[in-house]
Amino acid sequence: MNNFTFYSPTYFVFGKDTENEAGRYVKRFGGSKVLIHYGGGSVIRSGLLDRVKKALTNEGIDYVELGGVKPNPRSGLVYEGIELCRKEAVDFILAVGGGSSIDSAKAIAAGALYEGDFWDFYEGKPITKALPVGTVLTIAAAGSEGSGDSVITKEEGMLKRGAGGEALRPVFSILNPALTQTLPAYQTACGATDIMAHVFERYFTNTKEVEITDRLCEAVLLTMVKEVPRVIEDPNNYEARANIMWAGMVAHNNLVGVGREQDWASHGIEHELSALYDVAHGAGLAVIFPAWMTYVMKQDIIRFAQIAVRVWGCEMNFANPEETAKEGIEKLKQFLTSIGMPISFKELGAREEDIPLMVEKLGLGENGTMGSFMPLTAKDVEQIYRLAL
Ligand code: NZQ
Ligand code: ZN
Repeated sequence: MNNFTFYSPTYFVFGKDTENEAGRYVKRFGGSKVLIHYGGGSVIRSGLLDRVKKALTNEGIDYVELGGVKPNPRSGLVYEGIELCRKEAVDFILAVGGGSSIDSAKAIAAGALYEGDFWDFYEGKPITKALPVGTVLTIAAAGSEGSGDSVITKEEGMLKRGAGGEALRPVFSILNPALTQTLPAYQTACGATDIMAHVFERYFTNTKEVEITDRLCEAVLLTMVKEVPRVIEDPNNYEARANIMWAGMVAHNNLVGVGREQDWASHGIEHELSALYDVAHGAGLAVIFPAWMTYVMKQDIIRFAQIAVRVWGCEMNFANPEETAKEGIEKLKQFLTSIGMPISFKELGAREEDIPLMVEKLGLGENGTMGSFMPLTAKDVEQIYRLAL
């Protein structure tokens, strides 16, 4: 196991009706003038926004609001939010919604305290300070409620890039699984795929002797395999929603990833799909992950056979573990299809002729590769896109 530090100071408030406590927690974490930041209207239609406003008013907390965050949140609204925060002397940002609203809130939080262009952070400048951010989560997916990351798309050139730093971890996150019951099945499945992908990015590692995090990763995946079909069948299944919601947090606050090298190439490869076609991040991952796995499997057949046995219930073929590894990838594809996810460019609506453009825009590292399980060159990524056709 590698050396690591782990600091995850978010205060989680989990369960039914917990959104009504939003005001209490804003106060507890020092907010007196709040920017409520939300998406395209689901929180208005569900009545959640009104409940959150009431919770703030009950505690005598003043607020302004900015809605309109799009899935794959854009830089334009971030600039608007930064201006608004300065004009209104906002000292706390409350994101009400999914990963997109939370990520946009984090970008505003960092940008509001920075004199330069907030996009600098998404080009690698370290984030050292940000306004405090709280969240009321409405979809189990990105894990942004417990992570120090934010992903924003710059309209100019449709560049989708991530930034990160401890200052971006939400100070509190309110997780009421019942709020996710209004999600369409497709969004539920996209979120579930993203959660599983966050585990895969950590599971496929070259670090040895990481039994504890291997087993934690497998626990999250087994939970998803059990609970996702239950919510697809019955969207109002609170208990299954609750398990998925906590799995989404656990999958990405890095508890299951410490002490091991992590990969993250598939996320980078996917970001080009969601930037170009504006598809849901989870749907893009459903297309990319099986192709990536097929391409890199030979790097460590035993690890792929291990997940096939422990998560997908395959029988170990000791004479030919590669067969077991392949069977595991097939089972993943079947699972994704069964919950309504696309697993090919064709099903996603992506085009073969756009592959060169996506390869050109890839956010490769300084050494010209991405990922660490098997460092991929642009040529490798092109082959992965082609495997996904
Ligand atoms: O905008 P509204 O009207 O709220 O509708 C949203 C949106 O259309 C809808 N929705 C959310 N909760 C709902 C609901 N509809 C009905 N009932 C509810 N309870 O669902 C749609 C998707 O919302 P979004 O916030 O985009 O979803 P998600 O949480 O999957 O976030 C995706 C974004 O997160 C980034 C992705 O790249 C993508 O931009 N990621 C952020 C990460 C992080 N910050 O740590 C890590 C992830 O890997 C990911 O890259
Ligand atoms: Zn993701």
